[in-house]
Amino acid sequence: MPLTADSLRKKYLDFFASKGHTVIPSASLVPAETDASTLFTTAGMHPLVPYLLGEKHPGGSRVTDVQKCVRTGDIDDVGDNRHLTFFEMMGNWSFGDYFKREAIEWSFEFLTDPKWLGLDKNRLYVTVFKGEDGIPRDEESIAVWQEVFAKAGISSGVAGDDERAGEGIRIFPLGVDDNFWIAGATGPCGGDTEMFYDMRPEEGPLTGRFGDLVDSFRIMEVWNDVFMEFNKTADGVYEKLAKPNVDTGMGVERTLAVLSGKTTVFETDLFADMFAKIEELSGMKYGDLSDEQYIAEGKKCWVDVRRQFRIVADHIKAGTFMMADGVVPLNTGAGYVLRRLIRRAVRYGKLLGIEHDFAVRLASIVISQFGDFYPELAARKALILEEFAKEEAKFRETLERGMKEFEKMIGSGISGSEAFDLYQSFGFPFELTRELAKERGIDIDERGFQEELRKHQDLSRTASAGMFKGGLQEQDENSAKLHTATHLLQAALRQVLGPHVSQKGSNITPERLRFDFTHHEKMSPEQIAKVQDLVNEAIRADVPVVCEELPVDEAKERGALGVFDSKYGDTVKVYTAGEYSSEICGGPHATRTGELGRFRIKKEEASSAGVRRIKAVLE
Ligand code: ALA
Repeated sequence: MPLTADSLRKKYLDFFASKGHTVIPSASLVPAETDASTLFTTAGMHPLVPYLLGEKHPGGSRVTDVQKCVRTGDIDDVGDNRHLTFFEMMGNWSFGDYFKREAIEWSFEFLTDPKWLGLDKNRLYVTVFKGEDGIPRDEESIAVWQEVFAKAGISSGVAGDDERAGEGIRIFPLGVDDNFWIAGATGPCGGDTEMFYDMRPEEGPLTGRFGDLVDSFRIMEVWNDVFMEFNKTADGVYEKLAKPNVDTGMGVERTLAVLSGKTTVFETDLFADMFAKIEELSGMKYGDLSDEQYIAEGKKCWVDVRRQFRIVADHIKAGTFMMADGVVPLNTGAGYVLRRLIRRAVRYGKLLGIEHDFAVRLASIVISQFGDFYPELAARKALILEEFAKEEAKFRETLERGMKEFEKMIGSGISGSEAFDLYQSFGFPFELTRELAKERGIDIDERGFQEELRKHQDLSRTASAGMFKGGLQEQDENSAKLHTATHLLQAALRQVLGPHVSQKGSNITPERLRFDFTHHEKMSPEQIAKVQDLVNEAIRADVPVVCEELPVDEAKERGALGVFDSKYGDTVKVYTAGEYSSEICGGPHATRTGELGRFRIKKEEASSAGVRRIKAVLE
């Protein structure tokens, strides 16, 4: 009997509790303060960044959890055998406590000890960071792995630069692309060691390049231990962290697949009940053959059906978890992602022939299957089901209207621009239009559709590039005021904290400003109050904000703030607000400080090592 998801989670948490870790619950899928950059929690480390940067965690220096994650970047890939929009990541964390030795020894013990997962140690292979970008090769991890393998009585050869498998080789040093982990462009990061399991030992010893073995699913990754030693700054510098951390990530879905000998996450107990329901509602069969077998038998149409099952199940599951964390279908932000997922599920359900009310039934299955471990699902059950019912009904109406439009179009065939119109105005995915056209035996201009799509995407890219020009998301009055407030804030911070304060990043939305600056410790409540008072004093003084075009040297001489590098031309614009602030900037700004109203700091927090972040509003 393969392990179930419930027992896997329990084993993981029990194991790390036995190693002195505090078990903490999953954080919400919605980050505490939604940034434009992160609508959802995308990795286990995401909610723990402040602690990786040195803040004290209430659970101590060792914690373990199973974190809900959503990644919608690969939404179009969902349905192949690995990608999911929603997944659960198990992790154990050291905040400046243990490091490489313990992390590696415990990973090996948990994976191979019969008391825990009991995987065959002979089928285990690992990668380590080979050193690149000025960061040295991870000799320590190699040495610890060799010791661990030797103790277990198995080979521990290290592959060469050709990254090829061979007799006795178990450790593969790989480069930055494979074995260096960072979430986004800056922040805590470091080399990692990843563990892989041989899925088809019956094919004999591993041969060939490591990357090819992964691509052919001969080996599957199960776990990633990241050794966070650095903080990457906006200038691309890797600063050594005062205390190094461990961040590990083991996907529940992947691990279950490996434990049950499957190369696809969709064939684990996680999806079985949903698939049974989809089979019942659609009258279609998901099938027992592997993707490879279907393709080998030329049954493309069955491959499509499997993909449709997977998309429907994944999206409804993701949607259910999002709603449990308070997201509702909307036309913007996280709510829009949710709406897109539900609509995509309904459309793909329709391709399978399901005509009504299926979202609610599938969501009920998700709630009962996962509700014990994630009580927020059960707690919000009524609300979740109601939203699903409403959203599905609303979208089916749109689909109905689109169908009428479709019927009008089908004279001699569907042109590219007609197919695009169905997609754009009625939310018809191209696959649906193609399927309908096929049923009626009419032609459809797929190339024309792709061409229209491309033209449209180019247009919207240009539009959004324009919108972000100058770093302002909306060049309206409010943004101009917040922009001026940012200058006053920087000047006040330098006055209160010292001249080491310099801007690391700035982001303005119509509602708030966000300002990142160099400073090595948390600001005290008194310092925050003082900064706020200084800004409000400058506002009360109601001085004009004057813009002058000056040669760079003169701006520098006059002491205007700004980064004096080649990104400025010969002359620069300097905005000066009385004696309060003088800064190089592209604008636009308020005309007088008095327009700003009242300035309030909402939050002061760590952004990355040595960089603090303030969010503030004008009231
Ligand atoms: N943060 C690492 C990951 O997401 C463990 O893979």
